[in-house]
Amino acid sequence: MKKFGLIGYPLGHSFSRNYFNNKFLEEAITDCTYSNFEIKSIDAITAILKDKELLGLNVTIPYKQAVIPFLHNLDEVVKITGACNCVHIAEQKLSGFNTDVTGFEKSLMEKWRPEDCRAIILGTGGSSKAVAYVLSKQGIEYLFVSRKPDGSPNCIKYEDLTEKLISEHSLIINCTPLGMHPEIDAFPPFPYRFLTREHYLFDLIYNPPKTLFLKKGEAAGARTKNGADMLKIQAEASWDIWNSGSGR
Ligand SMILES: NC(=O)c1ccc[n+]([C@@H]2O[C@H](COP(=O)([O-])OP(=O)(O)OC[C@H]3O[C@@H](n4cnc5c(N)ncnc54)[C@H](OP(=O)(O)O)[C@@H]3O)[C@@H](O)[C@H]2O)c1
Repeated sequence: MKKFGLIGYPLGHSFSRNYFNNKFLEEAITDCTYSNFEIKSIDAITAILKDKELLGLNVTIPYKQAVIPFLHNLDEVVKITGACNCVHIAEQKLSGFNTDVTGFEKSLMEKWRPEDCRAIILGTGGSSKAVAYVLSKQGIEYLFVSRKPDGSPNCIKYEDLTEKLISEHSLIINCTPLGMHPEIDAFPPFPYRFLTREHYLFDLIYNPPKTLFLKKGEAAGARTKNGADMLKIQAEASWDIWNSGSGR
């Protein structure tokens, strides 16, 4: 049996296990399993790795950074973003990848082109690093917005978001968990009154499909997209990585 799984904590409503088990059923893949490993400390990965049939792991909150010391090889994107959400196990070696980057890039570019645009990234956590990597690659300038800016010149407070700044940044990306199930009444403290039809709002959240962040954008005439496609694309990118080598 070829085994795959997800490490994180908590994993209550994780998307990946259902996604892969449905995929195995639909595509008649009978020699693979995908399990959740809900671990309270990253050190518990050592016991999980003792299973010689385990060929790949996805990694979610809060271990995307903490898993890195356990890896033998780091993909360039992991080195730059400092975050890993996909581990391939081959010949007893663990290689780390970041398929959030692939997911965000393909999902963003499907509906949008970077012509003369600047972006605002809300939140400075793990996913914001993947988003910033893609924007840099596409040559798009961006500003981070944080509750506690780190002092770097491209990181500001929510209170600093003026009408001028918002008119100069047409792509707004929510990388905070605000609005995610079950806290669906929450939304980032962004001055939505300055949004126009020229804006494009991308929310990494996929549950609910339409967050208040996106609804407020729609109300201003902006185009919107949620994180559902990104999630599926990152899952398929993980699958491709796990199947790209000889395995363990
Ligand atoms: N669709 C996908 O494939 C996909 C992939 C990855 C993540 N996601 C989603 O993206 C969201 C963020 O994930 P993540 O991994 O980046 O999480 P994270 O590492 O916990 O970072 C979230 C960031 O949001 C900001 N934040 C947190 N709580 C906040 C609050 N109460 N008010 C204002 N800002 C707050 C913080 O930035 P500051 O401290 O700087 O304010 C924090 O660093 C989650 O909803 C996750 O499910 C989706």
